[in-house]
Amino acid sequence: MKVLLLGRGGQVGWELQRSLAPLGELVALDHDSVDFPADFSRPEELAETVLAIRPDVVVNAAAHTAVDKAEGEPELARKLNATSPGVLAGAAQKVGALMVHYSTDYVFDGSGSTPWCEEDATGPLSVYGQTKLEGEQLVARNCANHLIFRTSWVYAARGGNFAKTMLRLAKERERLTVIDDQYGAPTGAELLADVTAHAIRQALDQPAKAGLYHLVAAGETTWCGYARFVLEQAQAAGIYLKATSQAVEAVPTSAFPTPAKRPHNSRLNTAKLRSTFGLNLPHWQSGVARMLRETL
Ligand SMILES: NC(=O)c1ccc[n+]([C@@H]2O[C@H](COP(=O)([O-])OP(=O)(O)OC[C@H]3O[C@@H](n4cnc5c(N)ncnc54)[C@H](OP(=O)(O)O)[C@@H]3O)[C@@H](O)[C@H]2O)c1
Repeated sequence: MKVLLLGRGGQVGWELQRSLAPLGELVALDHDSVDFPADFSRPEELAETVLAIRPDVVVNAAAHTAVDKAEGEPELARKLNATSPGVLAGAAQKVGALMVHYSTDYVFDGSGSTPWCEEDATGPLSVYGQTKLEGEQLVARNCANHLIFRTSWVYAARGGNFAKTMLRLAKERERLTVIDDQYGAPTGAELLADVTAHAIRQALDQPAKAGLYHLVAAGETTWCGYARFVLEQAQAAGIYLKATSQAVEAVPTSAFPTPAKRPHNSRLNTAKLRSTFGLNLPHWQSGVARMLRETL
């Protein structure tokens, strides 16, 4: 079996390089790959890459993920998040491949407090959310055999992340102010990659499992709750902090104005994924604690 991975250097792409490797021959590309064009700002070239490699599975982890920057460059965001995934999906359909793609909680308007189900009405508040929604629609339309995973608040041990930023700030300052009215689940790139590999194996054997799924860690928190948990873990590990978890002040979203609006309710209901693929999703705290033990 041959698997084509796009966006190999991102948080999720990096972990997918590990989790997809046992499935078969893995061709992993980034935007500056030399052998095969994989620059999402040039959608027309992506179909040629798929037709040349003729994979059994295409996994797209590339995206324009800079949510605030996307407000000022909607056309680029649309190319990366919608047009290019759509082209990839069309080419995957041509070669008979399964197309795997990621989307986001930002496709919702964030109203209410109930976890969103896959069939709930969307209502993106930002260019990022809108273009990601267009992307998932194009992927579904262009390739019947697809898996689309909507996830939220992704972190990875590699590179920068929210937890590392909180730790750095807590070493420098005596108080931190963190948003406490956006609810969601921090989700590890490792978990996303492992579930993806598991789902691919099943979907290849049982095409009826193709579709759209919500994939996040169990439980819920706010950015403030997340920050407090990170600082508690660091204190327990004996790390000296100027600002302890008690010194984290909860503030509303309005305290940090940003170009892009974020949803207040980013809770995602994962029942469909768990029952279809027979999976248990671990609590967000276990993944974050593990990531901290690796990086502290
Ligand atoms: N991060 C989150 O909190 C979050 C939340 C919900 C959903 N998601 C979704 O999860 C998926 C993976 O996200 P992530 O957190 O792993 O993102 P990420 O770390 O920002 O990685 C994005 C990847 O896209 C690549 N890329 C950017 N511009 C490109 C271009 N013009 N051509 C080809 N590749 C390009 C990047 O390559 P370079 O680094 O080389 O530029 C990088 O490998 C995305 O679909 C994202 O929308 C993420």
